[in-house]
Amino acid sequence: MTPDLDRIDVFDPDVYARGDPARNGLPYGRYAWLREHDPCVRLPCAIPGHEPSAWVVSRFDDVSAVLRDPDRFVSGHGVTMRASHTTVAGDGGKPAMITMDGAAHSRNRRLVNRGFTPAVIRSFETHFRTIAAGVIDRAVALGSFDFVGEIASQLPMHAISDLLGVPEADRPQLARWTNAVSSPTDPDYALPGEDIGDVLGHIWDYGLELAELRRKNPGTDVMSTIVDAADQEALTSDELMGFVFTLAAAGNETTRNSASHALLALFHHPEQMQWLRERADRIPDSAIEEMLRWSTPVVYMRRTAITDVELHDRHIAAGDVVAAFCASANFDPDEFADPQDLRLDRSPNRHVTFAVGPHVCLGAHVARLELRVLFEELIRRTGTLRATGSVEYARDSYLRGVKRLGVQV
Ligand code: HEM
Repeated sequence: MTPDLDRIDVFDPDVYARGDPARNGLPYGRYAWLREHDPCVRLPCAIPGHEPSAWVVSRFDDVSAVLRDPDRFVSGHGVTMRASHTTVAGDGGKPAMITMDGAAHSRNRRLVNRGFTPAVIRSFETHFRTIAAGVIDRAVALGSFDFVGEIASQLPMHAISDLLGVPEADRPQLARWTNAVSSPTDPDYALPGEDIGDVLGHIWDYGLELAELRRKNPGTDVMSTIVDAADQEALTSDELMGFVFTLAAAGNETTRNSASHALLALFHHPEQMQWLRERADRIPDSAIEEMLRWSTPVVYMRRTAITDVELHDRHIAAGDVVAAFCASANFDPDEFADPQDLRLDRSPNRHVTFAVGPHVCLGAHVARLELRVLFEELIRRTGTLRATGSVEYARDSYLRGVKRLGVQV
């Protein structure tokens, strides 16, 4: 056994920044040690401005059980280890469904859900394809480029912007703001002279501007649905601002990171790349699900116990913070056969990349569609694609990301 396996700090952003790309950047050994020896353990978190410790839950069954149990483990105190939350009103944030519980959560989710029906999402496909084709062709013309900057960040940014009705010229700015707020531990995403409070203020104000634009010019997009709900007084203007922020943040980095981790994985598994190339006319759903499992962009989901709970002989007290490690659950051999093998035809594949339970990702089908369109268009539009060797991970233990991935066509 590597001596460090009982010590590696799973909350340390540097553990993810320095991850080994050949091992998917994740501390697999540490997670395996936890699942086997200490499946529910209170561990410290040394990041300034974060909770000092949490019960780390690492097995697939336990992670799923915690996320499916909102009566004992709530979201209202935040879903990250940060000590104050941008979507919790008591912390000075604007309320959003991701950190709501019970009736308030159901009400918000029901309202917003109308903009995410399968029919609405199907209607995006042609448009997503046009966006993907444009950005891929531009990147390919360069011959050698950064996949994250040129391609993976572009489709999610445009997709979310379309949902929200963000004009073309404002999109890069919105992406810079959401990066700065979502990955505060990564200095590359910080904005000079602005702290998180300033940046949040910009996003909230911008949410109101967008609402005004849609009010004047309503459409069938998600933002029009939200504005309509706000105008019927079913949603407060604070909730409206919180919603724009959540959607911009939730839909941007996660999808970008999934695509980048997935391409990196394909470089390390050339036989799987070949398998995909042979099926690029219509990439099978199993391949998208395996890319999602493999990438697990959200490392853990935080919950707060509101009652005493016994788990694996440990006593979680009411008020304690619990971190359900999706990145460990998705590689638990008790759920996935040979979990460290990338198998694009894996079935079944009950990954928890989008979480499970009442907060399961609202944009899951949008993200799936984006990934399918992106990889179908990428494969169709490129002959051989190879890594140039430059890979850089984000310094973040909540949203694990790829910042740069050099490729050559
Ligand atoms: C690969 C891409 C994505 C991943 C990995 C991802 C992951 C997640 C996870 C893990 C949650 C659950 C949070 C919790 O349990 O506390 C979540 C919730 C959410 N996601 Fe995503 N997401 C992705 C893409 C998207 C997209 C594209 C959108 C919007 C179009 C979106 C919108 C949301 C919203 C609104 C919620 C809150 C749902 C609720 O609290 O009921 N996500 N996402």
